[in-house]
Amino acid sequence: MTIKKALILAGGRGTRLRPITHTIPKQVIPIANRPILHYVLEQLGSVGIKEIAIVVSPDNQKQIKHYVELHHWNLKLEYIEQKAPQGLAHAVIVSREFLKDDSFLMYLGDNLSGGRLEGILSTFESAKADATLMLKEVDNPQQFGIAEIGTDGEIKRLIEKPTNPASNLAIIGIYCFSSRIHQAASRIAPSNRGELEITDAIQYLLESGGIVNSERLDSWWFDCGTKDDLLQANETILAQLSMQHIRGSISEDSKVEGLVDVGKGTVITNSEIVGPAKIGKNCVITNSFIGPATSIGSKCKINDSRIIRTIIMDNGIIDSVAQVENSVIGKNCRIFSSRKSVDKKQFMIGDDAEILL
Ligand code: DAU
Repeated sequence: MTIKKALILAGGRGTRLRPITHTIPKQVIPIANRPILHYVLEQLGSVGIKEIAIVVSPDNQKQIKHYVELHHWNLKLEYIEQKAPQGLAHAVIVSREFLKDDSFLMYLGDNLSGGRLEGILSTFESAKADATLMLKEVDNPQQFGIAEIGTDGEIKRLIEKPTNPASNLAIIGIYCFSSRIHQAASRIAPSNRGELEITDAIQYLLESGGIVNSERLDSWWFDCGTKDDLLQANETILAQLSMQHIRGSISEDSKVEGLVDVGKGTVITNSEIVGPAKIGKNCVITNSFIGPATSIGSKCKINDSRIIRTIIMDNGIIDSVAQVENSVIGKNCRIFSSRKSVDKKQFMIGDDAEILL
């Protein structure tokens, strides 16, 4: 019974990341210059899961498809429209025709994890489980689905976003299910937030005699729900660059230090770049400092500015800004100053914004 299918959930609203998510679905925000979903698809493909459906919303499906298909995947991909974000278990219900009675892996499309999937797949398969969860200790258990574990490591109870959590073991967004999840999803009632919670469906499975077990994630994980999650994920992935890779041109009066990746056609003049950092194609960087944990998309122009621990999406212009730090800046944004600004600035701005300091 090897799992061959996966369901990626990329519907929902992404309200916590507004204004960025007014113009780009959170599941395709670039982390180290690649849409989040690319990492998920790559991880699934690496364990031989090739039949993949992505649950999308009526509002985001065009963009999700566009970003996913920027890369040619050797996968059989399809998209399933969920008309309204009625919860993760509801997303499973609307995917029934694709899933049939096969076991499947479910991956929340806004989750990024450094772990490998072999562990959860073998825990699921060797126990002939109905649900296998991936767990990780967190500092803020009120914000997640939480697992209460017995003395032998068995799962005793699952509860979605408890006010007084009895454990700090969060259910991260990677699950394996047998076809019994369908009956469970059809039996539960909407939660206080009006959603059919997958956590409640798994709790139902547990109470009705299903085999529910878990696997601990011993690697990093981000549920990319806040600006800080995005920046932290960006920093973590950039730190995994294996070498310096310069395809553009660097003037003699510039300095490049550490793990730095520079795309084709990018021209860097009189500037200092300190890794880990990634700069896309056809950018022009002059008289600037690009500091650690920064990714800059393609066709950006940075002049006379310092950029530290920041994500700048394609076509951005930053001119004469003393220091941009801890910022997420959407596509086609222009931030400039008529006289050189002196203090540090932090931004969280969606596409096409223009800011004169
Ligand atoms: O990140 C892990 C957490 O994800 C778990 O600990 C929780 O138990 C689980 O309920 C979930 O909580 P969130 O509140 O963070 O889920 P969110 O609304 O962010 O949705 C997760 C992904 O699923 C996201 O890519 C949007 C998508 N989604 C969401 C809903 C509500 C859908 O495709 N359809 C939906 O109806």
